[in-house]
Amino acid sequence: MNHPVTRPLVYAHRGARAEEPENTLRSYRRALALGADGIELDVRVSADGHLVVIHDKNVDRTTDGSGPIAELTLAEIKELDAGQGERIPTFDEAMEVCGDLVQVEIKALEAVQALAERERRTPLPGQVVLTSFSRTAVEEAARLLPHVPRGLISHHPGAEMLQSALDLKATWVCPELKPELTRELVDRCHAAGVQVDAWPAADRGNTRLFADIGADAVTTDHPGRIAEWLTEG
Ligand code: G3P
Ligand code: CA
Repeated sequence: MNHPVTRPLVYAHRGARAEEPENTLRSYRRALALGADGIELDVRVSADGHLVVIHDKNVDRTTDGSGPIAELTLAEIKELDAGQGERIPTFDEAMEVCGDLVQVEIKALEAVQALAERERRTPLPGQVVLTSFSRTAVEEAARLLPHVPRGLISHHPGAEMLQSALDLKATWVCPELKPELTRELVDRCHAAGVQVDAWPAADRGNTRLFADIGADAVTTDHPGRIAEWLTEG
């Protein structure tokens, strides 16, 4: 996932989440219009096997419905209002809007199988990275979609995170901002051939820090202002 810009890539977390209903087509379009380089989104599977884009296990927080997404059919999911009249997107719908630079976070293990089935009819663009907090999900992605780059998300930056990524042959780590996220750690990741996407970039301070420690990408709810700050230097 090499890129021509010298600043870190800016991934819009669930789209332009600070301004629009998260994980909606409206949110992705807005993020790209604001200057995001790529989109981060979350995938789960409906009761009838469709890949859909939603962060939570249940639809309650982000829609006017209730219950687990895994117990709703796509037709039922499409009746829900995800904010401002937006619908929960299918993964296919999201991919049509998001472009090629997409970080697809696997929130449910069965999503890996669904992604592998989709891959047989519609290959993912080369810059897509499959990510997860779950080692099992990343392992499953390695097994079923070995050619698609993988990333391990972690709340705990450190040597163990890097080792896990290497064990999984993941080429990205996505560490949360913690004191342990240092230039030295980023250098060690790079020396091992692993790129770093740090999150959340939220204000000038941590955005500068991410750039200074050599992060390759940042993930943020505020893609417009973060891209601007990183470009200003
Ligand atoms: O980019 C990392 C981030 O997406 C992980 O947190 O809970 O927003 O999916 P979450
Ligand atoms: Ca996510």
